[in-house]
Amino acid sequence: MREIPIGLSFDDVLIVPRKSPVKSRKDINLRTRLSKNISLNIPLISANMDTVTESKMAIAMAQNGGLGIIHRFLPIETQVYEVARVKRSESVFIEDPLRIAPEKNLLDAKHIMEENDIHNVLVVGPSNQLVGIITHRDLLFEDNLNQKVESVMTKDVITASKGTNVEQATELLKKNRLKKLPLIDEKGILCGLYTTKDILNLRHSNGAAKDQKGRLLVGAAVGVKKDFLERTQKLLQAGADIIVVDIAHGHSDLAIETVKSIKKEFGNVEVMAGNVATKEATQDLIAAGADVIKVGVGPGSSCITRIVTGSGVPQITAILDSVEGAGDIPIVADGGLKNSGDIAKALAAGASTIMSGNFFMGTAETPGLAILKGGQKFKVYRGSASFGAAARRREREYGEWDQELENVVPEGVETVFPYKGSVRDIIHQLLGGLRSAISYGGATNISDFQQNVELVRMTPAGFRESNFHDI
Ligand code: XMP
Repeated sequence: MREIPIGLSFDDVLIVPRKSPVKSRKDINLRTRLSKNISLNIPLISANMDTVTESKMAIAMAQNGGLGIIHRFLPIETQVYEVARVKRSESVFIEDPLRIAPEKNLLDAKHIMEENDIHNVLVVGPSNQLVGIITHRDLLFEDNLNQKVESVMTKDVITASKGTNVEQATELLKKNRLKKLPLIDEKGILCGLYTTKDILNLRHSNGAAKDQKGRLLVGAAVGVKKDFLERTQKLLQAGADIIVVDIAHGHSDLAIETVKSIKKEFGNVEVMAGNVATKEATQDLIAAGADVIKVGVGPGSSCITRIVTGSGVPQITAILDSVEGAGDIPIVADGGLKNSGDIAKALAAGASTIMSGNFFMGTAETPGLAILKGGQKFKVYRGSASFGAAARRREREYGEWDQELENVVPEGVETVFPYKGSVRDIIHQLLGGLRSAISYGGATNISDFQQNVELVRMTPAGFRESNFHDI
């Protein structure tokens, strides 16, 4: 029989320590390439899974320098709304501020504020001329929320003219002790908004991952069937910075054709494509136009693809092989990471970033409410190909479970996980470990680390020795 090559995973290797120039872990720079044309300040991406990434997670990831990919198991309008929420959350200049008509009632204004987590809404007439502003303080002592907005709003709003830049806006906000500064043109038409909060955030958030307009970066996933072109178009209009072609078996004609059509239709768009586990697959997707390749077939914590189909490649080998076929195109190591050491091993194998669901599951920023059981809080985590995920999708599409569900052959599982609190604490721990790992690798940044790093294979005895033992 032909010799069968060995496939290695995270627990089969260690990073060989090297002489380190690092005096403090704070000096280690974690900036890395996401795709051909986009960089991140940290190499962490939250997975495009329906129990992991919607706007709340994506905002937290980007504020910390990473990226969230909004999952695709939503109606187009809802996914677009989630992307817009991220883009709107911290832009220094809001081009398209939220607004309400004067004849709407206070309850409508309250809903807009609550849904968008804001404290003021601008009031505009039929041709978009600014007529007032309504704030949450205006609503606090109002018993009758059926009153019209115009009867309670502040009419004298301090404004600035179209074209005012950030420095001029900062001065005006400071001088007049304002929270909001709407911009209007010569006809009084609303054409943008500066807020004190966003300007202060900009000053304090030099680590956040932002686009050229100062808005947080966000990605969005699309499938390979039905509405993917319409979905992509609307996601891009909403400001998505990268489109992720999300298919379990990314080395397929369907995936290749999808990448090609998105590139052809929209030209200047960054596309992440996957998932794959071989050199050939990576080359095929790059030839189709992909700007970053997502690697991982079956390593995920909620995945049973390898059990159900017997198919996959252990993740360190999958990354090494894909990197070999990728040339200058970056690789995302997706799934199967259990700790910060695994992030370092994925980067050592050549990945530029990692994607995880497991690290971030159970946090406050994941979608859905926590379940309370026996006085303890839990949150759901499920594979995108689990029975639960399929049922939820059909429920969304048809309003109920149906016969088709009997045909589902799950390749993922579903579980509840103890509530972990904010994702920021998790990110802090992961980055601390990663910085230390890069220092063990004798480097001060990811690129130097990758150039000089050496991996060593270990036996089961080495793996046993690696964890705490005999205590
Ligand atoms: P972790 O290990 O972070 O992995 O939980 C997250 C990645 O797992 C993939 N994924 C799946 N793979 N069946 C699979 O075979 C599934 O149901 C499934 N759901 C998610 C996906 O690549 C994700 O980023």
